[in-house]
Amino acid sequence: MRRVIRITLFTLASVVFLAATIAAEELENAVGENHPSQAQPAADSEKRNAVEVNAAAPELSLSNYKLELLLVALAVGMVVNYFRGSQQNADIARAWEAPISQALHANFSLVGDGSQVLERDSAADMLVYASGRRHCRFAQGHLMLRARQDPVALLNDLVANTHERLEIEVTMNEDAFSGFVFAAVPRRRAKAVGRDRYDVSTFAKLATKDNISSRFVVFSESADATAQLLDSGLEELLNDGDSLLEEIYITDCPSEKPETHEFKRDKKLLATIRLPAPTSDGIKRVRETLDFVFYLVDYIAEAITLRPESVRKLARAREEAFKEYARLAEQEKQEALAKIVADRRRAELDEVDKMSPDQRRKWEEKERKRKLKKEQSKRTRRVK
Ligand SMILES: *[C@@H]1O[C@H](CO)[C@@H](O)[C@H](O)[C@H]1NC(C)=O
Ligand SMILES: *[C@@H]1O[C@H](CO)[C@@H](O)[C@H](O)[C@H]1NC(C)=O
Repeated sequence: MRRVIRITLFTLASVVFLAATIAAEELENAVGENHPSQAQPAADSEKRNAVEVNAAAPELSLSNYKLELLLVALAVGMVVNYFRGSQQNADIARAWEAPISQALHANFSLVGDGSQVLERDSAADMLVYASGRRHCRFAQGHLMLRARQDPVALLNDLVANTHERLEIEVTMNEDAFSGFVFAAVPRRRAKAVGRDRYDVSTFAKLATKDNISSRFVVFSESADATAQLLDSGLEELLNDGDSLLEEIYITDCPSEKPETHEFKRDKKLLATIRLPAPTSDGIKRVRETLDFVFYLVDYIAEAITLRPESVRKLARAREEAFKEYARLAEQEKQEALAKIVADRRRAELDEVDKMSPDQRRKWEEKERKRKLKKEQSKRTRRVK
């Protein structure tokens, strides 16, 4: 609600500002008319008065404020549209809430915050969360509807041809499967995914799959893993022209290139499900697709068994890709260690400063012996 008020205030402020600018310009013009060119200063006062009256008269007329009225109408229209669009989306979200909630409740022990399943993020985005299921830590869903409340965003959606969709991201247990990268995406998205997703571009290659519909492009890291994964029923689903599954990723690496070496390597299953109109048939199909996604969680964890050489290859690829990060981590560790040693030494020297001459002599003797011992141990080590 606060957001609505902010948008409304912003729109009204813009309109007031624009109206003020236009009014000021008109006033300036009117004043300009009152003082015609200096070249005719001899105009008689009667004529000037007439001009003044003429200039003042239209200012009172409504027709002079056409633009301002138009802007106010536009602002009112936008506010009305915001509420109407938000209401429409709330109705659509309500239609989807039941099947999503049922699918989640069938598979997770905790859904939503206990009372509410879909949590409103904006007028067109709802979030859902679930946890408590074998093989995974939690699942997050994102219901993305058309921005019916915002004409500009709506136009953008229409131009980009994006569908209303439900994105499901399941964060799997660390030991659920040997991490590999797989992606099946619509052909038109292939270039962007292959270029922009760090995990896909680093580990996977475009795979030619004669048996997969040409609507999809498959990125595969391990032929072993991909073949088993497609056997789950995923191949049929990708080949089904009516399928609602738009995109699917299975990954153990971040989608964006890590900035530091302390990055998370969560194992994830990500699926994008296109939302048809929420008719009973549409709802049934979404439910089926969602059930398949959760079935895949079990399948990946239980049915995929990679050959040892495949597992070794996956591990090697990660070692190679993360070399730079491992080096950075080691360097940071060494620096931290060196700092601890230096701090300790400084503290000790501070103590020495405060000592009496007698104590200091003792300390110097101890220090000398310590150095000697260090030298000796170094020498014996060298001899060995
Ligand atoms: C998930 O849900 C489906 C049907 O909705 C059910 O058949 C399956 O057993 C569930 N899986 C788990 C792990 O609860
Ligand atoms: C492709 O599909 C056909 C028929 O469904 C099957 O016999 C064949 O083994 C499949 N090929 C591959 C590479 O999966």
